[in-house]
Amino acid sequence: MPNESPETIVVTGATRGIGRGVARALAAQGHRIVLTGRDPSAGAEALAEVRAAGSPDPALVLFDMSSLRSVREGAQKLVEVCPRIDVFVHNAGLWPTRREIGDDGLERAFVVNHLAPFLLNHLLEPQLVKSRTRVVQVSAGLYIKGVVDLERTPKGEDFHAIRTYCTTKLLGLMTMPRFAAKWAASGVCVDAVHPGVIRTNLGDRTGALGVLLRLVKRLWRTVDQGAEPVVRLVNERPEPAKAGRYFHELVEQPLAPVATNAEVASRVWDQAVALAGLESTQRPASA
Ligand SMILES: NC(=O)c1ccc[n+]([C@@H]2O[C@H](COP(=O)([O-])OP(=O)(O)OC[C@H]3O[C@@H](n4cnc5c(N)ncnc54)[C@H](OP(=O)(O)O)[C@@H]3O)[C@@H](O)[C@H]2O)c1
Repeated sequence: MPNESPETIVVTGATRGIGRGVARALAAQGHRIVLTGRDPSAGAEALAEVRAAGSPDPALVLFDMSSLRSVREGAQKLVEVCPRIDVFVHNAGLWPTRREIGDDGLERAFVVNHLAPFLLNHLLEPQLVKSRTRVVQVSAGLYIKGVVDLERTPKGEDFHAIRTYCTTKLLGLMTMPRFAAKWAASGVCVDAVHPGVIRTNLGDRTGALGVLLRLVKRLWRTVDQGAEPVVRLVNERPEPAKAGRYFHELVEQPLAPVATNAEVASRVWDQAVALAGLESTQRPASA
């Protein structure tokens, strides 16, 4: 039976992995799903899948989250295809295996995991405020291993095949409570969630290490299990004043001290404003 109040739900990085599982589950609830990705053929497959699962009028918006120019174009396209955005799921993520510098002269995971969602939040802010959007940020419990070095991390000068992922997820989490404070009065609610350790292609390696990793991943939980805590948060509508929370799967947890240093968080915010080419007036009142 069709959902009587279908919502428009944007899911980034929905061409595979957890994002695709989240999109599928929310489509089955009858919502209009707007997928984002960068691979046209994987995107077309995911689009057919959500349509088959019951999403009315689903859409696919293609852009590359590792390029700020492409993110700006993507935000514009999202505005065009979404008269309103009831839910926005920041899911796209990258676990880099080697240092790669993108179009903006910045390390790729720094842009995909931190700067691109930060920029999207700003570019789409009028739509989010208008729709009183529920924003869900897919984070990672490994944020706790992140080490913020604002001088070296943006260009990957401190690149490390494990720590860079942790640091870039940590940076995203440091800005999340500030978005929550910025948006509280307008009814936009943002929370973050670690989905669990899930069997996807994230961080896949080549060679012997890759073979070993694939074997280990067989023991990890499925994409549908990873989608569950994300979907639960999507369907939960907290008071805006309670937003800015972090969930480890289904359980709310306080953020670890590494993510809550107000002085560092303020510098992270200001740096992201500058690197994303946003006006310095875009700071939250509490920053
Ligand atoms: N799997 C886990 O155990 C785990 C644990 C904790 C947190 N997470 C988080 O969960 C989220 C989803 O991860 P996953 O495991 O599902 O990973 P995944 O299977 O690798 O999927 C990642 C998604 O992000 C997209 N993406 C990556 N780089 C992009 C770019 N430059 N532009 C546009 N899209 C891009 C991918 O699209 P392409 O196919 O085009 O690359 C894909 O759709 C991530 O934020 C991750 O940090 C995962």
